[in-house]
Amino acid sequence: MLELTRSADLWRRAASVLAGGVDSPVRAGKPVGGPIIVREAAGAYVVDADGRRLLDYLMAYGPLLLGHAHPALTRGLDEAAARGTLYGCTHEDEVRLAERLRAHMPSLERIRFTNSGTESVMSAIRVARGFTGREAILRFAGNYHGHFDQALLDAGASAGAAGVGPSGIPQGVARDTIVCRYNDLDGLDAALCEHGPRLAAIVVEPVVGNMGLVHPLPGFLEGLRDRTQRCGALLIFDEVITAFRLGLGGAQGRCGVTPDLTTLGKVLGGGYPLAAFGGRADVMRVLAPEGTVFQGGTLSGNPFCVALAHRLLDVLEGDPELLPRMRALGERLAAGLREVLDELELRYPVVHDESIVDFMFRVADRPHRDYDEAREGDGAAYGVFYREMLSEGVLLAPSQNEVMFLSSAHTADDVDLTVRAARAALSRMRARGEV
Ligand SMILES: Cc1ncc(COP(=O)(O)O)c(C=O)c1O
Repeated sequence: MLELTRSADLWRRAASVLAGGVDSPVRAGKPVGGPIIVREAAGAYVVDADGRRLLDYLMAYGPLLLGHAHPALTRGLDEAAARGTLYGCTHEDEVRLAERLRAHMPSLERIRFTNSGTESVMSAIRVARGFTGREAILRFAGNYHGHFDQALLDAGASAGAAGVGPSGIPQGVARDTIVCRYNDLDGLDAALCEHGPRLAAIVVEPVVGNMGLVHPLPGFLEGLRDRTQRCGALLIFDEVITAFRLGLGGAQGRCGVTPDLTTLGKVLGGGYPLAAFGGRADVMRVLAPEGTVFQGGTLSGNPFCVALAHRLLDVLEGDPELLPRMRALGERLAAGLREVLDELELRYPVVHDESIVDFMFRVADRPHRDYDEAREGDGAAYGVFYREMLSEGVLLAPSQNEVMFLSSAHTADDVDLTVRAARAALSRMRARGEV
């Protein structure tokens, strides 16, 4: 068995200089027994500090639609940088990128670029407050919108990990943050009776990728649209995961519901830090300098990241079959996993959407629909599965709240290898009575 001495040594050093050894808590791998220390990555694979080559379904939590180090996003970077990496002024590429985004997502009548999904959602909420003159927002348990105060109460992703609480968040924030159950319009109606008149916005992941993969039930997003209109609040779609991954028009491009504001991140920068928010022109007009709501950033819309976003769009627009090919791979993976689970008589529903695949260790006849059901997933079993898959050369996300992201670099052979690995891993777990 390979000795992971270099990883262990680096982890010791990390823990003595980085807070908790990481820049984002999930990376410590607590629910699965420890972190992965990466040396380099290419295509669908990462190589860890000890030289293990691992087939990667983490894909940096979603941004790497084209896989690691895609030539379109890594070649000729000196040319991009040579034109200057930061101007502190509006520039042509930024204008052109906004125009390109709006062509794909017409609801983005006005756009502003930021550096992270967190910033985008935080800013969109402030815009909603400025526009409506109201303070409260309504969110859904198990959705994740970043690490600002209002986003964290009952959030999914690693913010929902055991032991993480509301420390550091002012109590007053809770008063203005109403959290409802996803896919539950009755619960929402009850909350609206009490809080509707003081609500600035409802914020939602139109397809959730932060409590496993959860689809909106038919009528749920329409119900949100209808209710926000009735109570005078705005509807914000957090498309930080879904934009581009579920299609160039995002989730809104296919669900027939148009939000007032939308947030983008992750795939937009192709692995470089670029995000955005935007929406109705009359709403975005509250932002300074036109209006009184302040939002800004030294690095926002920087020419380097913007140039790379153009390159990403060039790839996606230039190859209309790329996303369908990824969807087919996602289908192949989901079908393979279903077959393995059937063979082993494990009733864990597999969920799939385009290049996202997921299943939880939760016995049921249908996929989970909300965070309460997601929390029924057996975290200990997931931890064992994660380690078994790692021993087969497959890297999964270190938390059951996360999903499997495919990239355009994954191949049918990679997927078949993954299914074989899952068969071996789950068979061993079955034999030991762990599932
Ligand atoms: C749906 C969603 N919104 C917002 C964020 C926050 O983005 P960032 O981590 O870039 O701040 C995330 C991050 O995972 C996310 O999944």
